[in-house]
Amino acid sequence: MKLTRLTLIINGVERPVLCDPEKDSLAVAIRRLGLTGTKIGCGTGVCGACSVILNGKVVRSCTRKMKSVPEFSEILTIEGIGTPQHLHPLQQAWITYGGAQCGFCSPGFIVSSYQLLAEIPSPTREEVREWFRKNRNLCRCTGYKPLVDAVMAAARVMRGEATMKDITYDSAGEKDIYGSKRPRPTALVKVTGLADYGDDIKLKMPEGTAYLAVVISEVPHAKIISIDTSEAEKMPGVYKVMTAKDVKGSNNMASPAVIPRQKGKGITEFPVIAGKKISRRGDVVALVAADTEERARAAARKVKQNLEVLPAYMTFPEAAMPNAIQLHESLPNFYMEQPVFKGRDTVEVFEEAAVVAEGSFHSQHEPHLPLEPDVVQAYWGVDGMMTIQCKCQSIGENRDAIAMATGIPKDNIRMLLNYVGGSFGYSTSSNTFALVVTAVQNLDMPCSLTLSYEEFNHMTGKRSATFTNGRIACDKEGKILAAEYDVALDHGAYAVVAGHIFNNLVSVGFHGYNIPNFKALARGGSSNHAFNTAYRGFGSPQIYTCTEALIDMAAEKAGIDPWEFRYKNAARPGDLTINSRPYHDYVYPTLLEKAKPIYDKYKAEAKAAKAQGRHAGVGIGMGGFIITVGMFDSAEVALELNPDGTITHYNTWEDMGHGVDI
Ligand code: FES
Ligand code: FES
Repeated sequence: MKLTRLTLIINGVERPVLCDPEKDSLAVAIRRLGLTGTKIGCGTGVCGACSVILNGKVVRSCTRKMKSVPEFSEILTIEGIGTPQHLHPLQQAWITYGGAQCGFCSPGFIVSSYQLLAEIPSPTREEVREWFRKNRNLCRCTGYKPLVDAVMAAARVMRGEATMKDITYDSAGEKDIYGSKRPRPTALVKVTGLADYGDDIKLKMPEGTAYLAVVISEVPHAKIISIDTSEAEKMPGVYKVMTAKDVKGSNNMASPAVIPRQKGKGITEFPVIAGKKISRRGDVVALVAADTEERARAAARKVKQNLEVLPAYMTFPEAAMPNAIQLHESLPNFYMEQPVFKGRDTVEVFEEAAVVAEGSFHSQHEPHLPLEPDVVQAYWGVDGMMTIQCKCQSIGENRDAIAMATGIPKDNIRMLLNYVGGSFGYSTSSNTFALVVTAVQNLDMPCSLTLSYEEFNHMTGKRSATFTNGRIACDKEGKILAAEYDVALDHGAYAVVAGHIFNNLVSVGFHGYNIPNFKALARGGSSNHAFNTAYRGFGSPQIYTCTEALIDMAAEKAGIDPWEFRYKNAARPGDLTINSRPYHDYVYPTLLEKAKPIYDKYKAEAKAAKAQGRHAGVGIGMGGFIITVGMFDSAEVALELNPDGTITHYNTWEDMGHGVDI
């Protein structure tokens, strides 16, 4: 490696920067100086997390090579904008207006907004949005409104029209935190760039840490003949190349899914490192540990996969065909089935109905796309505990799975959350955690794994897909008489959380409506798609794709406005869910009444826009979710009565980037 020494003016001071001009990006060089407020998310120039100001222009520093950064360039990073003791108005406004949720995007947005206000001191809201669009600043959490609010508030301070006090939350007079606008406690470290997310911790690990790189399968279905690691082992800096034989426990993170009417008795094995077969693109076949991440990655590229490629079933309907190969030794591809019946035989009701609407619907697999990819550290703690630092949504279940797969007793496993740059459900699965634990067991060294955004997308779980045929019947007045659906859940390569998702298909469909007669069949199982996992509202978006569409189709056929149709059929006291259970609350007519003025306003606007030849429309939908994980509903609480009569409530949370520290 050949280096150059550049002098750059970073945050107002001259600093010597040693770098490889061809390989290093500006983001990498800045972060190596300890300025880890500049984040690397996508690493490919599309998310803006790495935004800095270079000679008066916002640049995405992850794609700017050092060879194109001139000597004596002036660079401004988040650390140069303000500090916890001396916040810039933008940072204060970001805190006050809820701009920092997971906070991973916050430094990039604040840096970008700093330049915006330098160029346009009095922007309109539209100009702020356009600036973010132009500079590719993406936020996955907030929906952008709080960010625009924050820029507008900070701009007022900078123009002298308001003070810092005016844009700082004042808790005096606050009766209760609940319902207040109290900012998140962690907002301060997030807006100043001082929150250490996984990859920031990697840069701050002590000497003697091993850095990991994965070798993942590039085909979705294959038998593994052999994995040749000989060349990789000879590469410089390599400590060890691990394969399935190096996993110390069962090498299986799967436990039997709890599924009503499971077909067959086995499980879909979920290996930490695949040794016998590949069930999806993204299965790990080898893990390289080296003294630097770069060397680990260079060695990983030398691992050879000798495979017998098998036909791949990328949808569940293909995998459920009678002549399909069984994907897992001990479980049929079609392993979940649950019927539902309510009221009269629906076939008779459909025959009598004045209006029938029917269709076929597909909800697709979906990646979670947080801004931060997956990063995991693991090490033996001084107390002998295997300690894992990561994003983690299911600490209890993850410890079970890691213990089983790696052979470490559950009580010797401790999980600590790093700051979470978004998860939205994917971190409920343990595969990357068990991988890093395996490396620690083999090397007896602390280990750190940072996935590239591409590896992250291949290796982690996704939303499961559905294929549904459904129909609905109503009378001339639009009163629903019956509905049916036949839904297939494509749960991908492994059965993790399959039962939780599956159960919602047969419990929340047509939520909020009164469907007097109902019949459904849910079926599901494996494919060679990505394994599937939790994702906001798991199971319910999949089934609403069918049921809310059917409601609209029936309304149209009956010639009734979609709001009217919903209002007519909204569940009222005495009406039952599709499972013949009472609703917990009968809020649906009231909710619709509240939505009506807004709906009418938008409808009028859309009509006017259409009259001018523009495309415009209004949508309305209804739904609900079960606040539990399927058919079992339980909770535990630990309370202690203190000597002074107060009560301590022992609790924890698993932050998914929603900033739940508040
Ligand atoms: S644009 Fe640089 S990390 Fe995404
Ligand atoms: S707060 Fe913007 S990505 Fe999370």
